[in-house]
Amino acid sequence: MEHTELRKARSLDELIQMLHNIFEGDSVNVEEVQSVMESYQSDPQEWMQYAKFDQYRYTRNLVDEGNGKFNLMVLCWGEGHGSSIHDHTDSHCFMKMLQGQLKETLFNWPDSKSHGDMVQKSQRILQDNQVAYISDSIGLHRVENGSHTEGAVSLHLYSPPFETCQTFDQRTGHRNTVKMTFWSKFGARTPFETTTSQENN
Ligand code: SIN
Repeated sequence: MEHTELRKARSLDELIQMLHNIFEGDSVNVEEVQSVMESYQSDPQEWMQYAKFDQYRYTRNLVDEGNGKFNLMVLCWGEGHGSSIHDHTDSHCFMKMLQGQLKETLFNWPDSKSHGDMVQKSQRILQDNQVAYISDSIGLHRVENGSHTEGAVSLHLYSPPFETCQTFDQRTGHRNTVKMTFWSKFGARTPFETTTSQENN
């Protein structure tokens, strides 16, 4: 039996192959996924084809569909871009820094009885190659590129894949269900949708 947790991913392709092996089974070993993603040392040459920035908001760019077990994507955050406060639809979320820095702010789930400001649990700056993990049992988060001069690029793995999530108003805790869309898939721009949808940013 192969011990993927002891091996290092020497390229993005190798990382994807190792992730396919890990997700062949039915359960997810969070430490194993985190450590294999952390072992990959970001090389822009390998992910540049997926890194497509938009002037107005962060983009989600699909890299691999993980045999239906996970979605792997590159997110590109322009200067000052950020997500809403959101949940992860009962999925695992792994987030690795490929370039630049992102600020992650964790929040508690809003209490159904209180209608005031949401409670902030913690805040951290994610550094190059670091891998953060969150699930709905940990809480909610907002991700932001606070830089006014540099873009940031991150690699996200969601398992199982999901297409909608809930976003939350920080002042009231009120929630909305929104569709998650891809700016590109496998390096090619996704066709524009004819219906307008509210998104997570
Ligand atoms: C995240 O949850 O880590 C970023 C938001 C997204 O996937 O759009």
